[in-house]
Amino acid sequence: MQALTVSEKMKTAQDFLPINGTDHIEFYVGNAKQAAHYYKTAFGFQSLAYAGPETGVRDRASYVLQQGKIRLVLTSPLHSNSAISDHIRLHGDGVKILALWVDDAYKAYEETVKRGAKPYLEPQTLTDSYGEVRKSGIYTYGETVHLFIERKDYNGLFMPGYREWKSNYNPTDTGLLYVDHCVGNVGWNRMNPTMKWYEDVMGFVNILSFDDKQINTEYSALMSKVMSNGNGYVKFPINEPAEGKKKSQIEEYLEFYEGEGVQHIAVATNDIVNTVKQLKTRGVEFLDAPPNAYYEDLPNRVGKIDEDMAPLQELGILVDCDEEGYLLQLFTKPVEDRPTLFFEIIQRKGAQSFGAGNFKALFESIEREQEKRGNL
Ligand code: FE2
Repeated sequence: MQALTVSEKMKTAQDFLPINGTDHIEFYVGNAKQAAHYYKTAFGFQSLAYAGPETGVRDRASYVLQQGKIRLVLTSPLHSNSAISDHIRLHGDGVKILALWVDDAYKAYEETVKRGAKPYLEPQTLTDSYGEVRKSGIYTYGETVHLFIERKDYNGLFMPGYREWKSNYNPTDTGLLYVDHCVGNVGWNRMNPTMKWYEDVMGFVNILSFDDKQINTEYSALMSKVMSNGNGYVKFPINEPAEGKKKSQIEEYLEFYEGEGVQHIAVATNDIVNTVKQLKTRGVEFLDAPPNAYYEDLPNRVGKIDEDMAPLQELGILVDCDEEGYLLQLFTKPVEDRPTLFFEIIQRKGAQSFGAGNFKALFESIEREQEKRGNL
C-alpha cells in the first residue's frame, strides 16, 4: 500500500473536538506595554484591544495585537503576588496560552477532561453589549495551556472585559496572515507521551515523524513528531532532545525556559521575500544564511520554483519540498534574552510538511548561535 500523504493522514483524525483555527496566543511578559511596542514596530502588528485597571481588571494589563488572522495577547502582572509573576520569574517571557477557536467551549472542556485533560479553566460565559464569548481551558505540556474560545455569538473586537485600543502609532503590517503551526519542546522521553496525549485527549493525528537519525548534525540531535487536528488548521509539532556529542538546542531551551514550553510560532505570508525584507529593515534578527552550497544544490533538491534565487539567497530564505509541493521558510533568533521562543516565517506552495530537508542547515546555524552563548 502506498504511504498516505500528509493531507490524507489529517483526514483520519477524530472529530469530537471541531477546531476552526488558532484564536489567539497569549504571552506572559515582564513589560507588556513595551513588548506591544516591539511587536508593532518590528513585526507590524496593529493595536486592537486592551484590558487593565482602566477596564476594571485589577491584577494585570493585557494588550491585544492583530495582523491578518493572527492575534497576540501580551500580559503583565501588576503585583508580585500572582501566578503570572511566578510564571515570568521561572520561565522569563514566553507563551502561556495557545487558544483554539471552537464551536462549543463547554463541550470541548467536557470531552477533553473526560479523556484525561488536566483542567485549567472551567467553562464560563463572558457577556457585554456585543454579545457573549464562552471559554474554558486545559493544560498541555509544561505550564502551557489550551484555551477553548467560542465566539459565534459575539461581534465585539476581542472579548468582554477588553476595550478598543486606539493608538496614534500605527506602523504598517509586514504581510503576516495566520498562525501556521506552534512547536513545543518537551523533556527526555516525553515526546511519545505528549503525542499520545494529543491523540487521546484532543483526537489529533500524528502526520509526520522524524527521529534522531534524520535530525542531527555533527554535534547534536533531536526527535520530532507533528500532531494535527482533522482539518489541519491547528498543527503542533513536538520536539524532544536526543543524545549527541554536545548539548542540543532543545536541551538549551529546556534549561533556560526551566521546563517544557512553546519553542516557536510559525506565521504564514504570501510573499516571504517582501515580508522578510521588511522585518529585517525593522530590526528583526534572523538566523544566518546557509552556505552558498545550499543554494547551488537547491534546484536538484526541490526542482523548479517560482521565485528568483538571488533574493532568497540574499535573505537566507530556506526552501524544501514534499510530494504535494514546496515551501519557503526562515527562522528568527530568540525574541528574548533567554534563548527560548523564536518565530518562523513560512510561505507554503502546496507543501504540507515542515522543512525536514532544511533541518541540517538550520540546526548548524542554531548551533553557531549556541556556541556564541557558550551553551553548546
Ligand atoms: Fe516550524
